[in-house]
Amino acid sequence: MPDINRSSCGDLRSTHVGREVRLAGWVDALRDHGDVQFIHLRDRSGVVQVVFSPEVSPAGACELSRSLKNEFCVEIRGTVATRAQGTENPHIETGTIELMARELTILSRAATLPFPVSEKAMVADGGHKRAETVAEDLRLQYRYLDLRRPAMQDNLGRRYRIIKTARDYLDEQGFIEVETPMLTKSTPEGARDYLVPSRHFPRKFYALPQSPQLFKQLLMVAGFERYFQVVRCFRDEDLRPNRQPEFTQLDLEASFLDETSIRDLTEEMVWRMFRVGGIELPRPFPLMTYQTAMDGYGTDRPDLRFGLQCIEATDIFQHTGYSIFKQILQRGGSIKGINVRGQSEQLSKNVLQNEYAKEIVPSFGAKGMTWMRVMDGDLDSNIVQFFSDQEKQAIIERFDARGGDVLLLIADPSYDTVVSALGQLRLHLGHRLGLISPASFCPVWVTDFPLFTATEEGVTSSHHPFTAPDRHDFDPTDDQGLLRLRSRAYDLVVNGEELGGGSIRIHDKELQLKVFRALGLADDDIDNKFGFFLQALDYGAPPHGGLALGLDRVVAMVLGTTSIREVTAFPKNRSAFCPLTQAPADVSQEQLRELDLLGMAAAGTVPGMEEDQKPIDTLSWVARIGLRDEERPVVNEAVEEAVQLAGLMQRAAGNEEPVFTPVTLNNRMRPPEPARICPFAENGEMYRNAPSVKGDFFKVAGVLDQ
Ligand code: AMO
Repeated sequence: MPDINRSSCGDLRSTHVGREVRLAGWVDALRDHGDVQFIHLRDRSGVVQVVFSPEVSPAGACELSRSLKNEFCVEIRGTVATRAQGTENPHIETGTIELMARELTILSRAATLPFPVSEKAMVADGGHKRAETVAEDLRLQYRYLDLRRPAMQDNLGRRYRIIKTARDYLDEQGFIEVETPMLTKSTPEGARDYLVPSRHFPRKFYALPQSPQLFKQLLMVAGFERYFQVVRCFRDEDLRPNRQPEFTQLDLEASFLDETSIRDLTEEMVWRMFRVGGIELPRPFPLMTYQTAMDGYGTDRPDLRFGLQCIEATDIFQHTGYSIFKQILQRGGSIKGINVRGQSEQLSKNVLQNEYAKEIVPSFGAKGMTWMRVMDGDLDSNIVQFFSDQEKQAIIERFDARGGDVLLLIADPSYDTVVSALGQLRLHLGHRLGLISPASFCPVWVTDFPLFTATEEGVTSSHHPFTAPDRHDFDPTDDQGLLRLRSRAYDLVVNGEELGGGSIRIHDKELQLKVFRALGLADDDIDNKFGFFLQALDYGAPPHGGLALGLDRVVAMVLGTTSIREVTAFPKNRSAFCPLTQAPADVSQEQLRELDLLGMAAAGTVPGMEEDQKPIDTLSWVARIGLRDEERPVVNEAVEEAVQLAGLMQRAAGNEEPVFTPVTLNNRMRPPEPARICPFAENGEMYRNAPSVKGDFFKVAGVLDQ
């Protein structure tokens, strides 16, 4: 049967009534009314009701329709008819018509489904469990079924259109798309590389690109002038929300443009991409220096949808008698705070003291928090009696404090701790107090980043080592001087999320060498890692710069999804594992032999290969934590204890009586510091959410991963 005649389910309307059509798709839902069978047939375009009735359908078709089950793939011929009055379904677009079936062919049967695929209600009340409530790993394991759901088809369809918008725009602007290698040498972006062994070069490895950074710069040397690419990048880094081990960038680079032009071009492109989702980003995107962002918002990814800016207060307490502040300031510390305007009713003394000061703020890394409520022109709290009248007045003025406001101060010997904890507290309050409107979008360019960040050994690049500094006259051996350098980098942040970043690059070989030396790279190392690139800079490299957008993040934000996994066809789960293919997986000895990796195993470099493998070696390999010899006994003991405990808990979770094992309390993470018991554990609060309680015990899962 030729495919030209096939109609799309979701496109049928009352204008088609009386027409003979052929449909093909999946059984979305079924309803058995004795003699008459109703099915919802779904294809990519939507859903339509099909009726098998003895009045119009041959007996064979009626009979066959009774064997249909959800997600059978079928082909149906019939005539479009108007639905009887009162039987219209307002929940589907084709709800005023139905197909009176005459022929049914089952193209493919479906096994019992692990979760419902259908999203449309067959009848008004529906009653289907939404797939979003299904465990994510199950959805990922059966991703081909999950992707059949209209919501997922819509996400990927809109992803395509957003990317197409960017492609079309860049095409208009004279950019061409060029593909760069996936099997390559390390392209440093601050993460670990995924390595691919080579059969032809035993014991040598390709690295998958963390970004096409070096290649796009080489394309500029090659005279392409304007390049872009929708490109997969690979980064073996710590798992966080909105990060995937492989993700897609919209990567671009241009020659002879300065940072303003690149930002303007990107702004227009991003504005068009958001418009695909019906979002009008406010323009022009404002600029904010890194320092302003850190001082005012405690982060280089400021969420500008709400106020609560951080305010400096160190100077107010220079001569304070309040001993905690005094000691902190004597150690060179800082004090900053925020005014939570008019929220004293929401933030009671109890909440401020017991939740924020004792639990929430310490979880952000600060030791505590000082709070004050503003009442009748005065400050009220458990510590204001230690402040002088002058200090109180200065606080009121600095924070513009008015009745009903709540002032929160964080003091710490480390400026970085104060800034970071206050930034996190600001966000926490923004969410808790409902200050963030989900419908608002606040883009901002963050600029003037420090070129380098301090490490224990010296300095590292804040972005990547190809970023141009603001000055060229620096001494690569003077760490303090290096930390004062700014970069010509810019990050695009929207609603507190980094959507992209880029910079003007170094195109002068001597300057690039100076940056490598500042990073502590020896000449051999530089030559080995970047010799090919430095050589290219010898041949008339043009001034150039560019940027990369995290496409998954942009699409997720435009579509308002909860995670980038919702806009990625086949993502890894939160643990960087693929429940569908079960990757990463073992490989055969034969493959390892071919790659000459067995020899490396014998040399002890590939744990897991030896017969007498110890659990701590496996754990340290999996967790990527190197163990020194002197650490092995103590970690070994802890692992054995945990394995034993897991065994006990496993038994306890079965039918046997629960058992408990008191574990000696100690602070393994920071050994000299005493262990702290969470008050929730002491007062039993901790059990409140336990799924099942037996006597004084709460039950744990029957099987625990060791
Ligand atoms: P950067 O490392 O900032 O820059 O990456 C650009 C953007 O990519 C997104 N991104 C990620 N998205 C999902 N999962 C991840 N693991 C992940 N890591 C990064 C972010 C980020 O802003 N070569 C430079 C760009 C340049 O200088 O032109 C680069 O890769 O949204």
